[in-house]
Amino acid sequence: MTNFQNNKISFSLNGRKIEQEIPSSMLLIDLIRDQLKLKGTKPGCLEGECGACTVLVDGLAINSCLYPAINIHGKTVTTIEGLSGGKNALDEVQQSMVNHGAVQCGFCTSGVVMAIKSFQEQCNRNNHKPERNEIKKSLEGNICRCTGYVKIIDAVEALF
Ligand code: FES
Ligand code: FES
Repeated sequence: MTNFQNNKISFSLNGRKIEQEIPSSMLLIDLIRDQLKLKGTKPGCLEGECGACTVLVDGLAINSCLYPAINIHGKTVTTIEGLSGGKNALDEVQQSMVNHGAVQCGFCTSGVVMAIKSFQEQCNRNNHKPERNEIKKSLEGNICRCTGYVKIIDAVEALF
């Protein structure tokens, strides 16, 4: 049954504290794109299959098209707009994607970057240099319709 009751949530978005009234049924992608007007998170399949909508919640990559917005109360959300290498520079993941020509139409790119970011942070936390097959596995949830996978994997490998 659809619940239209509004709820007040507070959370951190890209380092900024946000308080927002949302319907219980709202999905995180709609909160991010429609209410907060951050359009870098892309709606693709809206069924949890393509990864275009990937954002970080408490550092972990999730599909925002399936994630209830109400569940981010008290949590930290990072979208592609929250990444930065400082002084207007690209984040190192973004820069590596550029360096390796890993962006074609770009539709999958923000989701791919966020998935890589989560993977990179987990590897760094464990002082782990991933093998190429682990990198491939970490990208299984992200579909690139331009099929630029080899260059994306090269871009990730160069981070370690
Ligand atoms: S739009 Fe969310 S997984 Fe495809
Ligand atoms: S670059 Fe076009 S979908 Fe990946």
